[in-house]
Amino acid sequence: MIELNFNGSTVAVDADPTTPLLYVLRDDLKLNGTKFGCGLGQCGACSVLVDGRAVMSCLMPIGIVQQRPVRTVEGLGSTDKPGVLQQAFIDEQAAQCGYCIAGMIVRAQALLERDPRPSDAAIRRHMAPNLCRCGTHLRILRAVRRAADRISAADGTAQRTPAP
Ligand code: FES
Ligand code: FES
Repeated sequence: MIELNFNGSTVAVDADPTTPLLYVLRDDLKLNGTKFGCGLGQCGACSVLVDGRAVMSCLMPIGIVQQRPVRTVEGLGSTDKPGVLQQAFIDEQAAQCGYCIAGMIVRAQALLERDPRPSDAAIRRHMAPNLCRCGTHLRILRAVRRAADRISAADGTAQRTPAP
C-alpha cells in the first residue's frame, strides 16, 4: 500500500510504486478529469500539481509522489462552484473538444499561484509545454489572462490588457 495525498485527502493505493500517477488517478481513484493524451510526456493533457508545480502525471511514478500534495482539476473547483480559472475558460469558450483543457487549467494554476500578475509573455512561455490539437491556443491564453486580471482586480490592482 502506498499513501498518497490527493486534493487534500489521504488515500491508500494498492499499486506498484512504478505505476504512473495518471493511471492511479483515472483507474483507482476515478478522477477522470486528468486526461491520457500521448503517455510520453509530450502533450500535457495529464498535467497535475505536485507540490504546487505542474507535472506530467503520465511520467511520474507514484513511488516518487508518496505524501507530496497532489491537486487535480477536480480540486480547483466544481460544476456548481467553478474556480477562477475554470470560470475564465468558460467565459472565453476556450474549449473545442475539451480534451486538453483540464491540463491547461492545472498548468495555468501553477503559474498564477507563483505569479498572480504574469505578463502576456510569461503566460505564453509557461503554457508552451501543453498542446491543443484543436488549435484554441489563443482563447486559452485569453482565459489565463482573464483569470489573472480577475485575481488582480480582487486584490484592488489595475486590470491588464487582454492577450491577443
Ligand atoms: S499524456 Fe502525459 S504528456 Fe501527454
Ligand atoms: S480543445 Fe481540443 S485538444 Fe484542446
